[in-house]
Amino acid sequence: MEQLNGRIAVVTGGASGIGRAVALALAAESMRVVVADIEQPPLDATVAEIAGAGGIAVGIVCDVSDWESVDALRARCTEEFGPADVVMNNAGVAGGGSISAVDLKAWEWTLAVNLWGVIHGVKAFLPAMVERGEGHIVNTASIAGHLTSTGMGAYNTSKHAVVGFSETLQQEMLEGDTGVGVTCLCPGFVATNIINSERNRQERYRDPGPDLGPDDDDLDGTALGDASSAIADLYGAQMDPAKVAEQVVGAVRTNQFWLFTDDLADGMIRERHADIERKATPTKRTHLVELMMLKGDS
Ligand SMILES: NC(=O)c1ccc[n+]([C@@H]2O[C@H](COP(=O)([O-])OP(=O)(O)OC[C@H]3O[C@@H](n4cnc5c(N)ncnc54)[C@H](O)[C@@H]3O)[C@@H](O)[C@H]2O)c1
Repeated sequence: MEQLNGRIAVVTGGASGIGRAVALALAAESMRVVVADIEQPPLDATVAEIAGAGGIAVGIVCDVSDWESVDALRARCTEEFGPADVVMNNAGVAGGGSISAVDLKAWEWTLAVNLWGVIHGVKAFLPAMVERGEGHIVNTASIAGHLTSTGMGAYNTSKHAVVGFSETLQQEMLEGDTGVGVTCLCPGFVATNIINSERNRQERYRDPGPDLGPDDDDLDGTALGDASSAIADLYGAQMDPAKVAEQVVGAVRTNQFWLFTDDLADGMIRERHADIERKATPTKRTHLVELMMLKGDS
């Protein structure tokens, strides 16, 4: 979609980090932007920032894990501005914990936001795009959607699913000659608020008690143990979300499917692909956090 000027964009998870930066960047391209997020105060702040810079935006509180909420977002967008031209399904949460230790509620929460949020966004906004024969969808996955680092099983599972969903969607859009483009955004490490994802965990996804499993443990970052504050510091030193936003704008304009924000994990991804091609049993691999530590040292 070469011409963005005057068109309409929706960005979920738009109040913070990557989503916020993309909302600002799209508004700077003279798009009218619907900023959607579960957290009201930073949502208001983002909309005010866009307006302060001369852009046009409306903020809508939305929980992407809830279909009714996303369908209401689509209705409000249509009412305020018209049908969406660009939709970025970006809202996401992350935490640590081994597959055996993370409780079921945390699994539900991670999949509900990271995967179902994307499914809901596509189900809500795609039909009108196909009907009009144009539009672009950006789904935020992660390099974790191409890797299998331990201690982040719920997150990895959600992001692998977003990768598979997005590839299938792109193929279907081509097959149907729909005119709708798809981008699968796979960020490396970006300096955002993702390490504090617990702030937005809905009550219904909280562990009600200690009896959900033998090693019941919330997905709250505590699994990162003593390393968690060091990781938080390292996160702060990662890529500027504004740089990612620039890349997203470029990908929408040029209809680029794969969008990796850097080449940090290329070697690890190649290693995994080589195992698959050789049908080989994987040996112990480098951990994503080790990769971040290495980057922090360089
Ligand atoms: N930061 C990174 O290093 C990194 C790397 C790979 C992928 N990602 C992905 O990027 C996306 C954006 O994350 P970020 O890093 O900017 O983190 P962030 O925490 O700064 O932003 C995430 C936003 O999503 C919102 N959100 C959370 N739950 C929601 C819900 N149920 N409904 C609506 N909004 C909700 C939050 O309020 C927040 O504004 C996520 O999908 C994340 O998995 C981030």
